[in-house]
This record gives sequence, structure tokens and C-alpha cells, in this order.
Amino acid sequence: MRRLLIAWLVPLAAIAAVPSPAAGYALGAAVPWDRVRDDVARRALVERRFGSITPENELKMERLQPLQGAYAFASADALVAYAAAHGKRVRGHTLVWHQQHPAWLRSGLWTPAALRAALVDHVTTVAAHFRGRVDSWDVVNEPLDDDGTFRAGDAPWLPVLGPAYIETALRAARAADPDAKLFINEVAAEHKGPKLDALVRLAADLRARGVPLDGIGLQNHTDTAGYPDRARLIDTMRRFAALGLEVEITEMDVGTLRTPGSPADRLTRQADAYGEAAAACDEVRACTRLTVWGLSDRDSWRGAAERALPFDTALRPKPAWRALAGPAGA
Ligand code: XIL
Repeated sequence: MRRLLIAWLVPLAAIAAVPSPAAGYALGAAVPWDRVRDDVARRALVERRFGSITPENELKMERLQPLQGAYAFASADALVAYAAAHGKRVRGHTLVWHQQHPAWLRSGLWTPAALRAALVDHVTTVAAHFRGRVDSWDVVNEPLDDDGTFRAGDAPWLPVLGPAYIETALRAARAADPDAKLFINEVAAEHKGPKLDALVRLAADLRARGVPLDGIGLQNHTDTAGYPDRARLIDTMRRFAALGLEVEITEMDVGTLRTPGSPADRLTRQADAYGEAAAACDEVRACTRLTVWGLSDRDSWRGAAERALPFDTALRPKPAWRALAGPAGA
């Protein structure tokens, strides 16, 4: 009985306590389901501190379609159900990428028609499966190289289908889930340069041709040695807002290893990096969510030594968390 009561009360308390920055954008975290599922401390962190969850790996193609046509939704479903039970929004990451796709995709000898059918099948099946449960999708992740050309990676999408794969994926996603916001997500496009220019051109072209695109995700994986400040981010965000698009910071983390100085200095600088991003999202109305890539320094894909996240290895809030969440995050 007590357990039952707690099971009901905890989620309610958690929803009430989630910090909501004054600006009204959501604060999210990438969640590794295998580590969160059975860990009370990590669950408490998610439930108390964040309003949105991005499955860190569970929605990637290698996980969802390990064999062609054999979809495996169990762990993604469990994570999405957990999010719903605790009133969290879910960002879908990612339908099409040049990494973490299954071996059958990489090794196949594809005709354009067969690959296009496989692309549409994957996007349609996954977006339809999560319809009403995932509010936004990174339909295409990292389509560009740093020089602004389209990126092939080790996936067949670009070599076989050309850049049109992006439009194909967006149209299939819209058809499968008309209510989800559709994003292109990109890495290292925060700063001025050919990649950002190319992303703006790509977004403008898609919009002009009526291809369904609702937003741009800026990953903002960065470093205390050189992070985009508030003015930089605002400028970048406004270029997309001017096209009628939403913008999210989708994968923020701030490595600290490369900055000289004491550990405390590094954490202060890191807090500044997070604070600048929060201020930019606050300032730009089109910025609707800021997600950090992982839960704690113990969980970061960049390794614990980088201390890249707002919670330390003991899951305690760092100065970065206060900079990010403001007084509501205390
Ligand atoms: C990373 C995950 O965090 C790792 O657990 C996984 O091994 C590799 O992928 N950009 C992205 C994310 O868009 O999907 C990546 O996530 C980090 C970089």
C-alpha cells in the first residue's frame, strides 16, 4: 500500500518541482534508459529537474530496426511510457543519421528505389508508432559537413539518394505524424561559418518549396576553451527564426579539460557557458527548449573527466545548473 501511494505521489510532486525558466522554454536532458530504469537516484534527478526527455540512444535506427523490417520498440516504449507517467515531454532523436544505423543498411547494395523505400518505411513506421507521444523529431541529424557541403558519413543516404533524402524523410514524417514538430538537428553550427550559412540556405530552400520543416536543433556541444556566447547564439537563432522556424538547443554539454586554471575556475567558466545559452534561449522567442546531453558527469558520452554536464558524478548540482535553471533550479 505504501509503495502504491508513493508511486502515485512521487510523480505529482516531481511535476510540481520541475524548474521552469521564466522565459517559458522547457529544460530537457538526454536520458540513457538502461542507467535510469533501475536507479532511484537518477530517476529522481530526471523527475525533479527536467521537463523534457530525449532518449539518448533508444530511438536510433540501429536500435529500432536491427534487422530489416523487424522493428524492436520495447525499450523505447518503456522510456516513453516512463516520460508520460511523469508528465515529461519527449524529443525524438533521430530518424535519419549517418551514424548508429544497422549493419544491413551499411552493407546493402542499394538501388535508389530500394533505399528510398527503406527510408520511407523506417520514418513512417517509427513516427506513426510514437504518434502523440513524441512532440518533436530530429528527422535528419547532422546533414552537413563543416565546409557546408552535404555529409555522407558511412551511410548510403547521400551517396545513393542525393540531398533529396532530406526532403523525402521530412515528407514521410509529416504524413505519419502530422502533429509532431519536425527538425533538422546540426552539430557545430552555432558559430559563424560555412556550415551555418549552408544550414540557413538548406532551411530556406525547404521552406520555400513547402517541405515540412518546423525547426532547427543546435546541438551546442562545446567547451570552456571557446563557447558561443549569448550574442552569438541569439544571432544564429534569429537567422532561423526569420524563416519562421523554431530553434532548440538540443545536446548541450561543456567540456572543461582544455581550460587552464583550477577546477573551481573551470566550473565557473562552464557555468558561464550554460548561462549564456540559457540567456539566449530566454531572449529569442523562437527558442522553445534547451536540452543537455546526459544526466550527470558520470553519464556523459564525453567521459567523466570532462565534467561536461550540470550535475557532478554524485548527481549533485554544479554552478552550471544554477546558471541554467536560475532561482527555480535551486
Ligand atoms: C551519442 C550518445 O550519447 C552515446 O551514448 C552513443 O554511444 C553515441 O551517440 N551527436 C548526436 C548524438 O546527435 O546522437 C550523440 O549521442 C552525440 C553527438
